[in-house]
Amino acid sequence: MNSITIVGIGPGALELVTPIALKAIEDCDLIVAGKRNLKTFEHLGKEVLEFDSGIKDMIEKVEYLRTFKKVCIAVSGDPGFYSFLDAFISKFDESELTVIPGISSFQYLFSKLKKSWKNFELLSLHGRIFDDIDFNKREGVLFLTDKKNTPSVIATNLLENGYCNMRMIIGENLSYDDERITISSPETIKSMEFSDLCVVVIER
Ligand SMILES: C[S@@+](CC[C@H](N)C(=O)[O-])C[C@H]1O[C@@H](n2cnc3c(N)ncnc32)[C@H](O)[C@@H]1O
Repeated sequence: MNSITIVGIGPGALELVTPIALKAIEDCDLIVAGKRNLKTFEHLGKEVLEFDSGIKDMIEKVEYLRTFKKVCIAVSGDPGFYSFLDAFISKFDESELTVIPGISSFQYLFSKLKKSWKNFELLSLHGRIFDDIDFNKREGVLFLTDKKNTPSVIATNLLENGYCNMRMIIGENLSYDDERITISSPETIKSMEFSDLCVVVIER
């Protein structure tokens, strides 16, 4: 029985995939990933399975496929930061999994900003209530966004909760050719459009 490898591939650009992660991907029989992450490895011409349905369904397929294939799950950023690792850990024994770290989207953004991130809270807005968050506690907060919690929704929430003077930094399509980093006030960000792929830093 083959072990399952979960590989963090970084924010997206091939040059940010670590050598050990690339080796795992080159050595596997099947890459399982979302469309965006599969694109990074298109040039390898490997067999792929696009992850486009629920996690439960994907885990079931992987459970079967690994009986005769070396399967690599390629996830964006780092597997342990709001990714699939927890779902695999709850289903498989640790000895059945190999985990390879990757450069997280937030690490990449902070390095672009030439800023240390140790005093920032690192959060995802998936299923979270915005009102819980005390923005005055730390130097700031970083959010992973999704289709619902866009930068402009976050800006509107900040304004509604009295955080009008915060600074927002939007890291969009990080590491890709169309990367854009926008630094502005919630008032301005509120009416701006961004792609679906963003991380947001809010700082005092
Ligand atoms: C399911 S989470 C995975 C996070 C990932 N494990 C990490 O360490 O970055 C996906 C979210 O990460 C962020 N993200 C990942 N890659 C990104 C990129 N290239 N540019 C901007 N945001 C990115 C976005 O907020 C996206 O919705």
